[in-house]
Amino acid sequence: MLTFDHIIIGSGIAGLTFALKVAEQGSVAIVTKKSKVDSNTAWAQGGVACVTSDEDSIEAHVHDTMIAGDDLCDEKVVRTILTEGPERIAELMQLGMHFDERQDAAGHRQPDLGKEGGHSKRRILHAQDRTGLEIEKTLLAAVAQHPNITLLEHHMAIDLIMTGYRVQGAGCQEKNISDHEMISQVEISDNRQLTTDNCHREAMTRCVGLYVFDEEKNQIEALSAKAIVLATGGCGKVYLYTTNPDIATGDGIAMAWRAGATIANMEFMQFHPTCLFHPQAKSFLISEAVRGEGGVLLNGAGERFMKRYDGRLELAPRDVVARAIDAEMKRRGDDCVFLDVTHHSEKFLRERFPKIFETCLSYGMNIAHQSIPVVPAAHYQCGGIKTDLHGRTSIPGLYAIGETACTGLHGANRLASNSLLEALVMAHRAAQVAKKEVAQTSFVSTLAPWQSGEAQDPDELVMISHIWDEIRRLMSDYMGIVRTTKRLERVASRLKNLETEIQEFYWNFKISTDLLELRNLFTVASLMVQSALNRKESRGLHYTLDYPEHDPAFLQETILSKNSPQRSQSR
Ligand code: SIN
Repeated sequence: MLTFDHIIIGSGIAGLTFALKVAEQGSVAIVTKKSKVDSNTAWAQGGVACVTSDEDSIEAHVHDTMIAGDDLCDEKVVRTILTEGPERIAELMQLGMHFDERQDAAGHRQPDLGKEGGHSKRRILHAQDRTGLEIEKTLLAAVAQHPNITLLEHHMAIDLIMTGYRVQGAGCQEKNISDHEMISQVEISDNRQLTTDNCHREAMTRCVGLYVFDEEKNQIEALSAKAIVLATGGCGKVYLYTTNPDIATGDGIAMAWRAGATIANMEFMQFHPTCLFHPQAKSFLISEAVRGEGGVLLNGAGERFMKRYDGRLELAPRDVVARAIDAEMKRRGDDCVFLDVTHHSEKFLRERFPKIFETCLSYGMNIAHQSIPVVPAAHYQCGGIKTDLHGRTSIPGLYAIGETACTGLHGANRLASNSLLEALVMAHRAAQVAKKEVAQTSFVSTLAPWQSGEAQDPDELVMISHIWDEIRRLMSDYMGIVRTTKRLERVASRLKNLETEIQEFYWNFKISTDLLELRNLFTVASLMVQSALNRKESRGLHYTLDYPEHDPAFLQETILSKNSPQRSQSR
């Protein structure tokens, strides 16, 4: 069993920022299932929404966020995150992150602020169209220099381990009893031991560790820590078409659910309006910043259709634009719509959007001369593991930050580019609390080694990819941009049928990363469908033909917890 003070699962912006902030205090492990750079963060193009200009204000950013969130944002959370954002951005820049700049009329260097849908001001800090990758590289460089941080690549978390003892009392501190000694002294089931040596040892349910699958050694290890942080990103892979990388299988949400944590707002999957539509392009995003620079959407007949859907045209909030594209494609029977930026010069497009320009060119399209075929695709999970404003989940010892968490910032629809800012702020806030908790708690846990039992080598690996495909097709067909109760019930019942098969695989066959991801994907899909069925109204990203209007009775988060799965709970 390996023991650390802090274990972070996930190596994106949230996990790496948290690691750097707690590493002065003690030992830190970052567990990541592929290589360290494989994260949703590295794929983020647009940038970070943050108030940095005198022409902008926190109040305006709060207002835009609340409008996009369709009355479901928690205003206190919104204000806190957006107000603390500029300080966190300054820290990131001190670590070496460079955002694009321009010269103002007086010759001074200013941030070159981008614009995206739903923002009333230019406020998106960016590094060309590779913002996430540059942030990731900056943070990884800092992590590599820190002696207290161990990076465990190709380690896939399987499940959280719960229960243990809190040890309190002056005697304990004076004697400075190490965890190791305590483990040998305290038998978990022996209550007589609980009050020896002036120590109060309180048996309690908390998260004390996790099992991880070391893919390279093909073995399973138990890791223990005083604070465990889920920073595993999103779950776009639950759909057939997504802008997310392959790692986005909702691992954190699924593990937290199995451990008993409260999960919120899973019906609000955000579809990005413009994913490249090309037979060879897998999951390539065409940033909203392209529309921010005047890109227009055209249907197959070359008509600028957004004017028929919303006065804010292409820069309406994402839910509105994605729904309009979906409706337009269905109305005309088209496979895609087109994003046109041919009013810009090739020079401008190459400089402002080098990645998008080069990628499209590699598929034979010069975007300075021809419009880009695009479709909406699953992009961002606005719901997740319910946390407070310090990243604490409903389980003691367990934190969640970044896309895997639901803080209340995004409400029913995330405002573009708010998520990298949220990750920075919440990683900082969670780190402040986790450091205190770790310092104050002498904690004992004995983690049983993993038992493989009679598990066999899987005989038909192809079954894993078949079930995976089935889930993704079901979710795309029945729980897409426009929903109905009948479609949701259909996917719910098919998922139920798959449950037994997946459980049999999990218990009977040896662990593999694919199998673990399938199990997580299934759990997350089920939570999403259940949440969508619970919300009998349309709001933000959840649009159902059976209840097309807002209903004030649903002006609350959709809460799922194992104790009361059907319950909704007011903020
Ligand atoms: C984009 O560049 O369009 C993505 C930005 C975001 O999802 O926040």
